[in-house]
Amino acid sequence: MEKSVKVALLGCGTVGSAVARLLSEQADILAARAGARLELVGILVNDLQKERHLPVDPALFTTDALELIKKADIVIELIGGIDPPHAYVRAALENGASVVTGNKALLATHGPELYELAAANDVDLYYEAAVAGAVPVVYGLRESLAGDRVQQVLGIMNGTTNFILDQMHTTGADFSQALARAQELGFAEADPSADIDGLDAGAKIAILASLAFHTRVRLDDVEITGIRDVTAEDIKAAEKAGYVIKLIAAARIRKDTQGQGGIEASVAPTLVPKENPLATVSDSFNAVMIEAESADRLMFYGRGAGGAPTASAVLSDLVAAAGKRVYGGQAPREIVYGSHPILAKGDFRSRYYIKLQVADRPGVLAEMASIFAQHNVSLSTVSQEGQPQSDKDNAAQVQKQPVEIIFITHMARRADIDAAVVELNKLAAGAPAKVLQVEDK
Ligand code: NDP
Ligand code: HSE
Repeated sequence: MEKSVKVALLGCGTVGSAVARLLSEQADILAARAGARLELVGILVNDLQKERHLPVDPALFTTDALELIKKADIVIELIGGIDPPHAYVRAALENGASVVTGNKALLATHGPELYELAAANDVDLYYEAAVAGAVPVVYGLRESLAGDRVQQVLGIMNGTTNFILDQMHTTGADFSQALARAQELGFAEADPSADIDGLDAGAKIAILASLAFHTRVRLDDVEITGIRDVTAEDIKAAEKAGYVIKLIAAARIRKDTQGQGGIEASVAPTLVPKENPLATVSDSFNAVMIEAESADRLMFYGRGAGGAPTASAVLSDLVAAAGKRVYGGQAPREIVYGSHPILAKGDFRSRYYIKLQVADRPGVLAEMASIFAQHNVSLSTVSQEGQPQSDKDNAAQVQKQPVEIIFITHMARRADIDAAVVELNKLAAGAPAKVLQVEDK
């Protein structure tokens, strides 16, 4: 008799509905690859009245999570958020079911507890879909690079914000129009502030940093700045200087002031030089660059969001989990032997872009240069904008006009930059200085 593995699907929204459709349409090839038929035993939803238009038996839909979980060998969690998925994933693991999830918020907050629960119950927790959708970066980092030492992981890990910034760069679209379009296309989280304020990318880099450095990194360990304050003027100024602004999530091993190694984990709008491959990542695409000691630079690129691309990653985990049920063996477990401390923001090192307006008077530039020098910050470039031509003859008038100065620094400690900016702001003739990180080529 043909073997079968019972699968419960929790959530049938953008990703869950694509999974349900593919489970039905690709049933034969999935069975051939898994070594067993993947039998859908129920689909948990919030609203039983919603029209679904899916090729599945309508009797499968339920609102009784715990009853459904009890029937399953494998539970796929695609609800999102922490509650109730946290309780449901716990119930599934305790019940002896393996879990496949795309829920980065859950893993970046409760991952260690759930990995331990899975191990204690001799079942597995799979999460390829949680980072960068269809892009197999979890597998790449955990398995393909298991023999190497990773030094840094960085990239574009949120499709919604990349779409918004790309639209602002290429079409001059306004922020809210671009966000509305991302929501229509199904990329944005149920609460899009998780995308815009960088929490979604923060959860993803916490997951990747834990795999890369074999040290537990949680969402709270990541310094996060979202894209709300990126203006059309910032984008134009960056463009003129040869950069594009991207929301970059990064985790690196760095030395602190005492020369000790630690993990620097951040999400921030960053100026990326046009020559850097990350600058060319457009639309809602994701790209993750990994630098490892022996492998050198690797780049993973593809669709990081959307129903079908994310379902591809979910189904790959499902085939693996079902295969383990049939043939035995264990999925790769969390390996945490590292004990790197998490660096404080002040110890972060980067090049920085600092823009501010000052009164156009003799000596102002020298004062600013001296502030940078006093705080150990070395300047790479300085540019000045905004002196009106018509006022050229009238020196008194010119001095009243604020002028915009843009500095790009060499590598500097964030604490030194912040201290310099406090002093620079005393010279500001407009808004306080805007500070953005700058990535290398
Ligand atoms: P949606 O908001 O589109 O779907 C959520 C589903 O969960 C809906 O079917 C909803 O039911 C159901 N649901 C919500 N709350 C409850 C509840 N309390 N009890 C039972 N069912 C509930 O989410 P997505 O498909 O976009 O995302 C799902 C997960 O996948 C998230 O963790 C997300 O971060 C992750 N992910 C999403 C990607 C994307 O591009 N969308 C990409 C990668 C990962 P109903 O249909 O009745 O409203
Ligand atoms: N909201 C997420 C994004 C979905 O825009 O990238 C994929 O995790």
